[in-house]
Amino acid sequence: MNRKSLVQLVVVASSLSTVAPLSAEDVSFEKEVLPVLEKKCMECHREAYTDPKRGRLKKPKGDLRMDGPEHIVKAGESEKPAITAGKPDESEALARVLLPEDSDDFMPPKGDALTKEEVELLKKWIEQGAKFGEWKGTKFSPEGEKVE
Ligand code: HEC
Repeated sequence: MNRKSLVQLVVVASSLSTVAPLSAEDVSFEKEVLPVLEKKCMECHREAYTDPKRGRLKKPKGDLRMDGPEHIVKAGESEKPAITAGKPDESEALARVLLPEDSDDFMPPKGDALTKEEVELLKKWIEQGAKFGEWKGTKFSPEGEKVE
């Protein structure tokens, strides 16, 4: 091998190794992100419903619904959108799960926190454009069981 082709080989090899991680597959919202939000967020951030035990109206906490694509991109009381496509820094849902767990604003305030991997997937999905795939929303019974 002459010197020129050796240089070319090195250039090709090093560009391959830097390209590989960037071309990693898109996060699948429906497989990797939605199940986490359904399990750990929507109990408190869903359509208003009547509590079957006490007959009281339960409204979405913080005035934020996360149970449909048209809702989750909106802002609640904070006036900061929960999800802004392509902008993790302007996505309050991500900001809240990244807080220290003992912060008053940490989400979820009750129940299992997101794992590091789940937070990472949420962030990547936002960076990749926060696409919802076929998801049209998730419906729950008043008891909190997923019905659709
Ligand atoms: C046990 C109930 C509960 C669960 C579960 C929960 N939240 Fe909340 N959330 C609240 C309450 C109460 C507020 C209002 C007080 C506040 O802003 O901290 C709130 C507020 C928020 C807000 C601010 C809305 C606004 O614009 O003011 C965001 C964003 C949020 N939650 C995201 C999440 C995410 C993401 C999850 C899942 C990881 C989650 N929450 C799970 C109770 C909950």
